[in-house]
Amino acid sequence: MKISMIGAGYVGLTTSTCLAQLGHEVSCHDVDEDRLVNLTKGRLPLFEPGLAGAVAAARRAGKLEFTSSLQDCVADAQAVFLAVGTPSGPGGDIDLTDIEHAARQISPYLMSGAVVVVKSTVVVGTCTRLRKIIATARRSTDFSVASNPEFLREGSALQDFMCPDRVVIGVDDGHSQAVLSDIYRPMIDDGVPMMFTGSTNAELIKYAANAFLALKIGFINDVANLCEKAGGDVSAIAAGIGLDRRIGAAFLTAGPGYGGSCFPKDTRAFAHTGRSYGAPQLLIEALIARNEDRKLMLAQRISSDRSLPRGATVTVLGVAFKANTDDVRESAALTIVPNLQKAGFKVRAHDPKAMANATAHLHGVHWCECPYQACEGAGAVVILTEWEDYRGLDLARLAQAMHGSLLFDFRNLLSPDEAAANGLRYVGIGRPVAADLARFDVADRLAATG
Ligand code: NAD
Ligand code: UGA
Repeated sequence: MKISMIGAGYVGLTTSTCLAQLGHEVSCHDVDEDRLVNLTKGRLPLFEPGLAGAVAAARRAGKLEFTSSLQDCVADAQAVFLAVGTPSGPGGDIDLTDIEHAARQISPYLMSGAVVVVKSTVVVGTCTRLRKIIATARRSTDFSVASNPEFLREGSALQDFMCPDRVVIGVDDGHSQAVLSDIYRPMIDDGVPMMFTGSTNAELIKYAANAFLALKIGFINDVANLCEKAGGDVSAIAAGIGLDRRIGAAFLTAGPGYGGSCFPKDTRAFAHTGRSYGAPQLLIEALIARNEDRKLMLAQRISSDRSLPRGATVTVLGVAFKANTDDVRESAALTIVPNLQKAGFKVRAHDPKAMANATAHLHGVHWCECPYQACEGAGAVVILTEWEDYRGLDLARLAQAMHGSLLFDFRNLLSPDEAAANGLRYVGIGRPVAADLARFDVADRLAATG
């Protein structure tokens, strides 16, 4: 099928490439002409494992093209996917400017019977709104609008798209259902669960899914706080509750608070939608505040450590919001680094992929190409992103490079024992500190002997 993709970001590029792999002919357009020029030269605007190779393969197979001509892109497409950004508005609502603009722009070029598929994450009612916008611009209702929310994660986008837990398709007419069934036919034949529902439900499913996943993270982070006081180990608690299939083990890794381009924006939008419909989402409202506080609390934990003199250097390892991406949007580093600077510390930093993006947001940071170089002269080292490179750090080498001995491992990547053996004072998340461990061991022994 001929498919048009509007937007060549994470979702637009991944979806285009995967639909091409499914055998469709995909034409992808973006307002950013430089982005298109680079894409035609094989240069991607973002780092996503495997994506550059997959884009190249799809282009070689003649299944994927990039075009700056919206008309060429849309004119003979049976389905036109909208995958443009939907950023947060000032009150936490969603700014629909780009998607409404895209809908207006494609209107004159749509072929009769085309299905406009909303891939972007949009608040409930948006499909209805876009239907009106296109009908007004086109002076015709010879088209359909459907919702097909995307559940991929950055860092594993291709795998998530091709082997999803489910595909949700929100359709309000039989023609859209037939077209979307044809698009996903190879996946349907492979047994991927498809959920056909109305567009209103599909729009709500996307936000409810992200809100629920973020809630799991917020919950385990609060449990981590309790573990630090009571002497538990949050990884053991997560494993213990995660074995209950009703709870599930995923998204129970405690850390510095969730970030990224989606959870923060989408939880705010979900809360805003609840308020505007008079159905407040109080759990989510609390979660949003807890997640923001957590980043500030962790910055405070570092800056209030009495062994770290003001003016000392703090090294931050990891500025991406998670591993395997160069995306820094709403990453913990964007809150923690400025707060450390405000408290009078000098900051050195390293990230395997995200330094270029971070320089636009973090100022006065000394960027280093290698983690050990970044740790030179540091009074404290703080791990904020769970890169595999950091899991394998040589702690002897790190301790030697440092001036002080404080290691804040806010992703629980390293062994507290190994850190201690190298003379480092280890502070993890939801793990009792070494001194407390000794105290709890005694308590456990006493309890065991009655
Ligand atoms: P992005 O910022 O990476 O890409 C958006 C692209 O749209 C940009 O290249 C921009 O130039 C282009 N664009 C904007 N207006 C346009 C127009 N009128 N015509 C053509 N192109 C236009 O965004 P993204 O991360 O791909 O997210 C897109 C949507 O998908 C958002 O609603 C987001 O919430 C949702 N989503 C994102 C992810 C993710 O992991 N990033 C996952 C699921 C859903
Ligand atoms: C998230 C969802 O997982 C995707 O299903 C969804 O499609 C996407 O948002 C979206 O709507 O855009 P993503 O933001 O790429 O994907 O990354 P996640 O892996 O979900 O991580 C989000 C944040 O939560 C990161 O900061 C990560 O470090 C944090 N996290 C995640 C934890 O702290 N603990 C966990 O157990 C999992």
